[in-house]
Amino acid sequence: MTASGISPAAVETFAARERARFLERNPKSVRLAERARKSLYAGVPMHWMADWSTPCPLFVERAKGARFYDVDGHEYIDFCLGDTGTMFGHSPDPVAKAIAEQANNGLTTMLPGEDAVVCGELLAARFGLPYWQVTATATDSNRYVLRWARAVTGKNTLLVFDGCYHGTVDDVMVRCRDGATVHRSGLVGQAYDLTEHSRAIPFNDVAALEAALAKGDVCALLCEPAMTNIGMVLPEPGFMQQCRELTRKYGALLIIDETHTISTNIGGCTKLWNLDPDFFVVGKPIAGGVPCGIFGCSAEMAERMAASRKSAQQDSHGHGHSGMGTTLSANALAMHCMRANLEQVMTQAAYEHMLPLAKRLADGFRSLIAKHNLKWSVTELGARSEFQFCPVSPRTGAEAEAAFHDELQMAIHLYLINRGILITPFHNMTLCCPSTSEHDVDQLISTLDGAISDLLAIPGARL
Ligand SMILES: Cc1ncc(COP(=O)(O)O)c(C=O)c1O
Repeated sequence: MTASGISPAAVETFAARERARFLERNPKSVRLAERARKSLYAGVPMHWMADWSTPCPLFVERAKGARFYDVDGHEYIDFCLGDTGTMFGHSPDPVAKAIAEQANNGLTTMLPGEDAVVCGELLAARFGLPYWQVTATATDSNRYVLRWARAVTGKNTLLVFDGCYHGTVDDVMVRCRDGATVHRSGLVGQAYDLTEHSRAIPFNDVAALEAALAKGDVCALLCEPAMTNIGMVLPEPGFMQQCRELTRKYGALLIIDETHTISTNIGGCTKLWNLDPDFFVVGKPIAGGVPCGIFGCSAEMAERMAASRKSAQQDSHGHGHSGMGTTLSANALAMHCMRANLEQVMTQAAYEHMLPLAKRLADGFRSLIAKHNLKWSVTELGARSEFQFCPVSPRTGAEAEAAFHDELQMAIHLYLINRGILITPFHNMTLCCPSTSEHDVDQLISTLDGAISDLLAIPGARL
């Protein structure tokens, strides 16, 4: 029995039809895929790009706003939006202009410019934390914040929630199984034991949180305010406040990673729910899709960071390697784009457009589930909404995972792609951007309606 209530055999019949349709519809993508296999490992520039639902990669020609166009000339409404990297639409005009302005003025110098100062001021005003650093990706931000957290607390254990994702940071690649911390499956080349310094506990479990912190060895809890990477899992009322109170009680820091949940509010869930973290991380959309990450810290952290750095530098001639920073971090192009994005794109008006659309989409998912009498549910937060193959929204990463039906999800995604709609791969998440329209939302709902109707028309589909 699958969690989705749909027969695997019916899913395979449905998926086979869609794979054939894709191959017939996309001859140029098919030819490029054949060529790519000769020079790119796995036929793609980054191996996970081969993990989509399509039988070969869909090659993109261009993208703008809520749309992209493939090399075969098809237009798509994009609800994936680069998995948040382009949460405010593809190539927003102010960011495109910023790129053009900076293009001939130097892309990277290892020195700050006025843009850096303006960005620091804008970030402090928006998110409420006084001090900021700029990195190349959210992964980097999380990695560096973790180093700082260990340095300032003198403790080594990182606490995370089971099913989390915070980028390719080694220390977070752990799961919780039967109360024990274990390695996440699928890791390649993992040489050392991650469970030595990382602990994973279930989300929304205050008792497990307190027990993990009470050991006294935790430097920080690194978390999203709502889980978004194992399907969406919302915090129960008061859970995030408990995270704040209990970390304080046991001398651990609270690191909030809003790389995805920044779609909720202009100040993230942190501002909306008054979470008061020690460190705050955002990446992906912060410079409008140009690689960039940021992290902010409280005044107390800044002081403690300075002290720990001074002691670390005692025997390294004042310029020792901190283990943080990449050469292109905070480069001039990224800073100019972040400034344009913060000032002109990532605005209150943008959120006011996106949020009601996501609500319309979530309501549309709910009405489809009711119409087809499925035991599925919908989870929504800010500009994101997701349908999940379980009767009520999951409370933990494990519950979200139990609702996975990978083949069904892939088949539905492929059906949508074949009809000009893209949603986020690996789960059923959708994101609305400032260029998304009500018509786009309704188009996704009616196309998904077609997918479910076609699937259920296959004899024996409903279990
Ligand atoms: C919550 C969260 N943090 C960090 C990251 C890492 O972002 P990046 O891959 O841009 O480094 C991700 C990526 O999906 C994420 O979902």
